[in-house]
Amino acid sequence: MLEIRDVTRRFGKNIAVNGVALEIPQGQMVGIIGRSGAGKSTLLRMINRLIDPSQGSIFFDGSEVSALRGSTLRRWQRDCAMIFQQFNLVPRLDVLTNVLLGRLNHRSTALNLLSIFSREERAQAIAALERLDIARTALQAAGTLSGGQQQRVAIARALMQQPRMILADEPIASLDPLNAKVVMDALQDINLREGITVITNLHTLDTARAYCSRIIGMAGGKVVFDGAPEELTRDAVRMVYGADGDGSEISEAITSTSIRVHKPKLPASAGPLQPALERL
Ligand SMILES: Nc1ncnc2c1ncn2[C@@H]1O[C@H](COP(=O)(O)OP(=O)(O)O)[C@@H](O)[C@H]1O
Ligand SMILES: [Mg+2]
Repeated sequence: MLEIRDVTRRFGKNIAVNGVALEIPQGQMVGIIGRSGAGKSTLLRMINRLIDPSQGSIFFDGSEVSALRGSTLRRWQRDCAMIFQQFNLVPRLDVLTNVLLGRLNHRSTALNLLSIFSREERAQAIAALERLDIARTALQAAGTLSGGQQQRVAIARALMQQPRMILADEPIASLDPLNAKVVMDALQDINLREGITVITNLHTLDTARAYCSRIIGMAGGKVVFDGAPEELTRDAVRMVYGADGDGSEISEAITSTSIRVHKPKLPASAGPLQPALERL
């Protein structure tokens, strides 16, 4: 269980995260939604300790994450793997080596400096790539892959950390709809099969609805919605995203760019292809 206890983060006078309290049981798939600037990334980065809270504390299974130092902090950062919008791979290194980098926190500094990976670690890395259906790219430079493939490499690297939690910051924001679906399906599969908690910031409402059992809506640094997708009514959506400047309702289309694959709305007749593609 992850517990976020009244956490606030300030940047100068700006309050990025404002008194957030959440309890996230192990194994949940949680989507965090909200406008740009709502504090979503700052919250994720505090969980992983990329940045520290200004106030409040974070606990995991009873121990205070926000107080960890040195090797226990590194162990925590291994336990909660991060996935980023821009993949954060080393583009000139081959895919296999990028995935093996997920092991670094498990090993001694000397072994890391020598870049020696055991046969077992290599087999594990190949298995992770196979699971994500990209083993054939193992020897290619990561930078030559498509965005969707790169994000799958990043997920394979995360799996190599054998994490208890995956924190994904807008993992599909740079991907086309089909790759977005492949990546979200992979995260869902890891969540369901391994019981790894997945907390993911999402810029589209429909993706959060389709994949997450719990949706957290943030606005102005605060949690303004926390519930199941069915509970996310129009009014709740308006609280999260706000009404448009002229008072007109925010259209779900604004917050939805991508995954229609779960509920395909393709025309029954073999109509022109272009409108159907636009709807994807
Ligand atoms: N490193 C930083 N330095 C200064 N301000 C920051 C920094 N990171 C985030 N902020 C500010 O904190 C607020 C929340 O940002 P962020 O967490 O990135 O929101 P989101 O991910 O929801 O778009 C924004 O106003 C942003 O400008
Ligand atoms: Mg962000």
